[in-house]
Amino acid sequence: MWEYTDKVLDHFRNPRNVGVIDNPDGSGEVGSMACGDALKLTFKLDANKRIAEAKFQTFGCASAIASSSALTEMIKGKTLEEAEKITNQDIADYLGGLPEQKMHCSVMGREALELAIHNYRTGDTSGKILEGRVICHCFGVTEEEITRVVRDNHLTGVEQVTNYCKAGGACGKCRDDIAAIIAKINGLGPKNEQPRPPRPGRALTTLQKIKLIEETLEKEVRPALRKDGGDIELIDVAGNDVFVALRGMCANCQVARFTLKDVVEARLKEFVSPDIVVKEAPP
Ligand code: FES
Repeated sequence: MWEYTDKVLDHFRNPRNVGVIDNPDGSGEVGSMACGDALKLTFKLDANKRIAEAKFQTFGCASAIASSSALTEMIKGKTLEEAEKITNQDIADYLGGLPEQKMHCSVMGREALELAIHNYRTGDTSGKILEGRVICHCFGVTEEEITRVVRDNHLTGVEQVTNYCKAGGACGKCRDDIAAIIAKINGLGPKNEQPRPPRPGRALTTLQKIKLIEETLEKEVRPALRKDGGDIELIDVAGNDVFVALRGMCANCQVARFTLKDVVEARLKEFVSPDIVVKEAPP
């Protein structure tokens, strides 16, 4: 289970400025659904060229939603010159901190803002400012992006780079190249590589896990299902396999599989353990 600050949880549960502005002055979109998170940021300026309104739409985890919500609050009332000075660390600080494994959500927010300002100034909608040699082909991350994230956040290890921009987080073929970039920037060698951090999560007894699953279903899942006349029942827990049954309107819903994976499982991975697998209980 991720340890989130109260402010992260507040912005996740009560996100500010959700949506898309019609005819925005600037619009920026980063990430992709295929990679598990995507963010669209739009803003409108007032007569004094200050950001009067900012909205976001995101597909992502709790920290992606919280980071986007925080960013839209942070930039309101600022000039573009002031807004573009906001770093991903500023976004994390505003939220009272983010788990390091989730820092890429703050980087995504900063990149979306940068793209939206670029879009305002140039009209460019191509969706990428930092060009150059692609180092991580799995996530399409360039040398410039890695360089920047290392410099901005004083990173010293490949695992940290993965946490901040995802590069190196899949097949791992690019990890030597990332280490070389870090070494070049810091004048250090891969010997400074940090050991791979333990998988997020804390050791839970079976009873604690069941209670946490039930609590997460109650707080994070049922309110949304009940709005549509549905519900969910926890049937059994075997190791990391969680067996549930959808009830009410959800029981025969055509998108039940989506609900189980992208809503129920995603929330349980977020709040209980990243190893949770949700399965539909046999009738
Ligand atoms: S090329 Fe970077 S993780 Fe696969």
